Amino acid sequence: MVRAVCPGSYDPVTNGHLDIIERSAKLFDEVVVAVLINKNKKGLFSIDERLEMITEITGHLPNVRVDSWHGLLVDYCRQHDIGAIAKGLRSVSDFDYELQMAQMNRELSGVETLLMSNNPRFGFVSSSLVKEIATYGGDVKNLVPGVVFERLMAKVAAQ
Ligand code: PNS
Repeated sequence: MVRAVCPGSYDPVTNGHLDIIERSAKLFDEVVVAVLINKNKKGLFSIDERLEMITEITGHLPNVRVDSWHGLLVDYCRQHDIGAIAKGLRSVSDFDYELQMAQMNRELSGVETLLMSNNPRFGFVSSSLVKEIATYGGDVKNLVPGVVFERLMAKVAAQ
């Protein structure tokens, strides 16, 4: 059994994330989508809300489960017998950052990282931009799954 983790903040999960999760699910026996908790960053969505949305949009993927983690990603991998980290690459700036983390994680634990080229349809999509655009009333319908869009609109309306 080859297990992989798709880690991230997922505040909120976007269509770009979902593309990488779906492609990872084809490559690995089991994929854990792990919401990493960063106590220095106050997100728009709570960790529970992020988990609920990811659970809903990955319901069609039988080998995908969802979890959260506070701490080093490599410790999560060790504890759950995960041999690979799967992530998407949108740009050269992503690559610089991701390569450094991949090398560090391998140095710390031996875990391998698979960096997949993003679908260019979602190359410009990030959670931060989606939140910013939604906050100012812009249309993000095509950038996030339906359930995320609805919750985002409700959050913005309540602010
Ligand atoms: O969605 P993001 O914010 O780009 O994801 C970054 C994330 C959460 C995957 C990365 O910051 C991470 O792995 N954090 C966990 C803490 C950790 O292991 N840090 C050392 C990385 S080498």
